[in-house]
Amino acid sequence: MNTGYIAVMDSGIGGLFTLKRLIEEMPNERFLYFGDNLNAPYGDKPVSLLNILTLKNVRRVMAHGVKAIVFACNTLAVNVLGNVKRFVPVPVFGVYPPTEKTATEGKRAVLFCTERTAERFKDSENLKVVSLPHLAKDVEKNADDLSAVNLKAHLDSSLKYQKILSENYRFDTVILGCTHYGLIENQFFDHFCPRDIISGDAFTARQVKEFLRISGKLANNKEITVDFIGDCAEKNRKLFLKVVNKP
Ligand code: DGL
Repeated sequence: MNTGYIAVMDSGIGGLFTLKRLIEEMPNERFLYFGDNLNAPYGDKPVSLLNILTLKNVRRVMAHGVKAIVFACNTLAVNVLGNVKRFVPVPVFGVYPPTEKTATEGKRAVLFCTERTAERFKDSENLKVVSLPHLAKDVEKNADDLSAVNLKAHLDSSLKYQKILSENYRFDTVILGCTHYGLIENQFFDHFCPRDIISGDAFTARQVKEFLRISGKLANNKEITVDFIGDCAEKNRKLFLKVVNKP
């Protein structure tokens, strides 16, 4: 069914950043955004609860006629996607921190992410994993004025990050391992300049497009459609308009 929606799901507003990338890659599709804002943040919740919430939310989304689902949320991708996709009749994709890419390219990186995501990655010579336990929540709370989020304060209060600095770990790449961080990527750019700031969103967008193309499900609508559902649909729609209008 190439007329179905591509559903984009996150704990809240972080997936809007991914949605923007998906639209850039596939401008002739219909997108359905679901943010579980009332249950955000996900990053400090037990995996068992994330499984329950996700299955419930996927059911809600599926009722709208969906041909693919994207977990625009690293926390869901690394913790529950493998389990949940067994129960979903359409392909499910996720946004993952691109740690393998940096390793293959011989980069030295710091991965910033939620607590649940951090548990899935190990430090190595070329990768240091830093969870920022309150940053996604802070972004979610300050959706109306993202300049109120103070990235530096979160970095300063991270013991792990302070340790990395004191050990003089030299890194050239910063991995945004939480889609919420994309909404304040300007702060990451400013703070970590001239290092590369990367995330998994663009890769996922290309992967979804390639899958739909190969399976003959790529739509060719004249106009793009983006619909919002969920308890905070209107809030998410308004913020999305701001996000797309940013260069
Ligand atoms: N945006 C999500 C992620 O990429 C979840 C953040 C949260 O709700 O804690 O991990």
